[in-house]
Amino acid sequence: MYALQAAAAGSRLFVITDENVERAWGERILDLLGAASGGDYVLALTPGEGTKSLSKLEVCWNWLAFRGARREDVVVALGGGVVGDLAGFVAATYLRGLSLWQIPTSVLAQVDSSIGGKTAVNLEAGKNLVGSFYQPDFVVIEPGTLATLPEEEYVSGLGEVVKYCLLHGEDLLDVLEKNIDAVRVRDRQIMDDLVRRCVNYKADVVEEDEFDQGRRAVLNLGHTAAHALERTVGYGAISHGSAVALGLLVAVALSEEYLGLEAEVLTRTRRILERLGIPTTIDLPPVESMLAAATRDKKISAGGTGFVGLASLGAPVWGLNVTPARFAAALEVIRA
Ligand SMILES: NC(=O)c1ccc[n+]([C@@H]2O[C@H](COP(=O)([O-])OP(=O)(O)OC[C@H]3O[C@@H](n4cnc5c(N)ncnc54)[C@H](O)[C@@H]3O)[C@@H](O)[C@H]2O)c1
Repeated sequence: MYALQAAAAGSRLFVITDENVERAWGERILDLLGAASGGDYVLALTPGEGTKSLSKLEVCWNWLAFRGARREDVVVALGGGVVGDLAGFVAATYLRGLSLWQIPTSVLAQVDSSIGGKTAVNLEAGKNLVGSFYQPDFVVIEPGTLATLPEEEYVSGLGEVVKYCLLHGEDLLDVLEKNIDAVRVRDRQIMDDLVRRCVNYKADVVEEDEFDQGRRAVLNLGHTAAHALERTVGYGAISHGSAVALGLLVAVALSEEYLGLEAEVLTRTRRILERLGIPTTIDLPPVESMLAAATRDKKISAGGTGFVGLASLGAPVWGLNVTPARFAAALEVIRA
């Protein structure tokens, strides 16, 4: 319907995707969108984090330019978080801004990255260093597309779902806990419900704090240790979702100490992750490197105040002052 409205307004849809997603869903979704298919309007990039690069950004800009994209046209990001972040930045910058539609097809993109308007590409010096806040005009989420997601990607994306359940509170954690078997087999109905609730939570937070000046920090629950792990073991060696899952355990352990979170939450979170098939321990890199990586984030330092914890289920607290020594001690909960 939206595609028809866009067409009526004289807009064309320029779909940016990756080769895996194009193979699995390209034809079907173009058909549903009523969009012109074929080479002119679909750009399928190489899958993987490497595509969130300046060189691929230029490929996208030139692709739009050579096909005569105009201000009234639409960039459609069809795929996981990599395509969403890159195509989002393309839409934000080409001709100073084209309309952006997000059609996320991975768990992570459906529950998290397609919502909230953060777009980015990576530099050699680090991840997500260049980007903008640019809200999509539409986000179309069809959990049915998860059917073709490789198992490893599916399971790793569930790490973010667990994060949202902890942030949301007892109700949603309970739904997840009672339906783990259905989640494991990608049951359409339960995934629809879970994705919807995660999206609503994120949308609510972003509506209150679009530019990440305050409450939006809660979405970083588990991410301090996760980013430190990703930097230390290497981005290719651990998936983001698996790193987040381990980071959640560290954050929950620190929350016991700093915020008096009930000890039962750590046991319960670990059990849920295990049942979802997500590793809960890792061959921990040297603690000194983990600390060096975490302090780069400025979330942990002698006087650091950027850590996110939980006072109880559904009651996140941001801006905690976590010392390096206590962060190092909490890492023990994920040591294999
Ligand atoms: N903007 C934000 O707010 C935000 C938030 C979190 C993460 N991110 C970013 O998201 C990215 C990670 O996203 P991701 O985990 O979706 O990775 P991804 O986009 O690389 O997708 C994972 C893999 O699954 C494949 N795939 C996706 N959907 C598929 C489907 N339905 N069927 C078959 N294959 C499919 C992709 O081709 C890819 O190989 C990172 O770059 C991260 O920085 C952004």
